[in-house]
Amino acid sequence: MESMLWWATAALLAIVGVVSLDIMGFLSWGNKFQVEGQTVLLTGGSYGMGKEIAKLLSQRGANVIIVARNVEKLQSAMEYAKAAAKNPSTQRFHIISADVTSEAENARVLAESTAWNNGVVPQIVWANAGASVPGLFVEMKTETMRSQMDINYWAAAYLAHQTLKAWLYPETPYKPQEKGAKTESPRHLIITSSVLGLVNITGYAAYSPAKAALKSLCDGLNHEMNLYNGARRSKKDSGQAPAPFDVHIHSIWPATIVSPGLQNENKTKHPITFKLEEADSEQTELQAAQAAIKGLERGNYMTALNWLGELMRLSSMGPSPRDSLIKDTVGQWITSIAWLFVGPDMEGTVWNWGKKEGMPKFRPNAQ
Ligand SMILES: *[C@@H]1O[C@H](CO)[C@@H](O)[C@H](O)[C@H]1NC(C)=O
Ligand SMILES: *[C@@H]1O[C@H](CO)[C@@H](O)[C@H](O)[C@H]1NC(C)=O
Repeated sequence: MESMLWWATAALLAIVGVVSLDIMGFLSWGNKFQVEGQTVLLTGGSYGMGKEIAKLLSQRGANVIIVARNVEKLQSAMEYAKAAAKNPSTQRFHIISADVTSEAENARVLAESTAWNNGVVPQIVWANAGASVPGLFVEMKTETMRSQMDINYWAAAYLAHQTLKAWLYPETPYKPQEKGAKTESPRHLIITSSVLGLVNITGYAAYSPAKAALKSLCDGLNHEMNLYNGARRSKKDSGQAPAPFDVHIHSIWPATIVSPGLQNENKTKHPITFKLEEADSEQTELQAAQAAIKGLERGNYMTALNWLGELMRLSSMGPSPRDSLIKDTVGQWITSIAWLFVGPDMEGTVWNWGKKEGMPKFRPNAQ
């Protein structure tokens, strides 16, 4: 009897221990995002969170290529990243001015980066460019809805398309791997979305759909990469040698970041949207960048950048891959119950606003 009690207690303690370690993220051993000596291609890296990401990657020893439109901002971002270099004598930095909403520009960016990187396609590609134009749907120009899709969805989709093709089917085909040959470190394709792609609130009907599309894109690409990663272990000779590395997909889910982008958003945001976001915790650009890199180093597929974003990720992950078996499963149950209260509360806020303020004054083509 006594020994049974002993065993039950021990088992319970073991379970509690494993659960807490899992929740705290201690069960993923080692850094899964080694960037030292690798080359990173980063879009939207000239200001905001992107600029800090460039710096953190530089601190970790990566060569960094920053892509954005404004040359002056690019130059200052490059100096900023360079000053933080881990190995200043060997690390290299490059900037490319481009409009990433264009497919041709994405092709040029990848070609130029590859040439600069001594003919090797950058090992890490991070589609981080994005911008939000908030506003009420009926007041918004349909051109704005399209341009929101261009910068927030197509920019990432084009870059992903070019990059994955170049990694998997390079112009000079890969040679069959000799038995026992050393495999290369994995390639990482990272896409920055937004928590507004997980939860839809009044004032983001142009932005949220584009960011939600990125979730589908990442989930789909993550699924598809199994085909190529599996083919690497195949004994069958299909006449086409596989890439000598695995390809990993990751998505990043920022919430409110205090940045020049937010300042711009503030100009067109409807007061009701401000009210809905009142309680959100704001992050600095650096805090957001640190959280993103930390998630990648843990090997996460989906990384939210603060606790609120984490709750949104848990409540809307659907069948997306789990990064932490216990936390993601239990978290999903809990947030689905919490949403029973939070959802109606937020809808009530909007309803009450209408009731109190009356019909909003129509501002055609306000955005
Ligand atoms: C918002 O949109 C996304 C993507 O379609 C969806 O997964 C989520 O459940 C939606 N609903 C709410 C209330 O945010
Ligand atoms: C945007 O507006 C919010 C709410 O008024 C404020 O807290 C925030 O500081 C503003 N941010 C910027 C960058 O202007």
